[in-house]
Amino acid sequence: MLVGLNTNDDAAVYRLNEDIAIVHTVDYFTPVVDDPYDFGQIAAANALSDVYAMGAVPLFALNVVCFPAAYIDVLKEVLRGGNDKVKEAGALIAGGHTIEDEEPKYGLSVTGIVHPEKVIKNSTAKPGDVLILTKPLGIGVINTAIKGEMCPSETYLLAVEVMKYLNKEASEIMKEVGVNACTDITGFGLLGHAYEMAFSSGVTIEFDKDSIPLIEGARELAQMGLIPGGCYRNKKYLKGKVCIKVEEDEVIDLMFDPQTSGGLLISVSEEKAEELYRRLNKKLKFGAFIVGRVKEKQEYDIYVR
Ligand code: CO
Ligand code: CO
Ligand code: CO
Repeated sequence: MLVGLNTNDDAAVYRLNEDIAIVHTVDYFTPVVDDPYDFGQIAAANALSDVYAMGAVPLFALNVVCFPAAYIDVLKEVLRGGNDKVKEAGALIAGGHTIEDEEPKYGLSVTGIVHPEKVIKNSTAKPGDVLILTKPLGIGVINTAIKGEMCPSETYLLAVEVMKYLNKEASEIMKEVGVNACTDITGFGLLGHAYEMAFSSGVTIEFDKDSIPLIEGARELAQMGLIPGGCYRNKKYLKGKVCIKVEEDEVIDLMFDPQTSGGLLISVSEEKAEELYRRLNKKLKFGAFIVGRVKEKQEYDIYVR
């Protein structure tokens, strides 16, 4: 075993031989959008993301489905979305399992491969590293606004695009450039996943609040108080671990905001940071953002300045 439960990394990694390690992960959840085809794509992009965060290439996936029997037509659209997204990733769906459930849930178990020496862990960030984030934040807040029917349609459409967007190119570029650590941003929010990285690497992470990218419209919705329960849970969990040195406002809320299919948080050496930043920005649909720095371990695991 290379990577297991000990460092809370994104996926399990198992070395088969000198050249190949298997990367394995599973992720599923209840619908985050009304459109079943979009939901299928989002669930697949989200599940694939853990494989990309490890620097691996996805090979195949299995569907994990819980669905009410009366909605088979809707399920077909969900599966079509999942299938199309997995295809876009260059992988294929090889089967799956369905059980009847009143509350629909969908996701995938994804299997990928990586060279055992090229596994990108979340526990190997180094002091002096630059932190780059590859998608803007705000998904949880926007989903809360959607549920409350208070989300402007352009914000909704943008959020769906962000969630559907694969971390494939980001992963390929970071592998080519060579980075020290990576994780993807999902339910624990930027600060929660950054905490896992800081703690398991034995370092402190410093974020610059003004550099945090937000999905257009998310800030206004957070200002209106449309904060998801997961955001408060993340805040509570990170108490005593995160020190906020600036005035708390909606940007801070959005840093705790749980994301669905969020971007990669990449820790890269200062010498390679500029090249990585430039190449990511050239290629990625939502750009790349330098959001902070890795420091020697200090009193708190994370500081926001
Ligand atoms: Co992950
Ligand atoms: Co995951
Ligand atoms: Co990882």
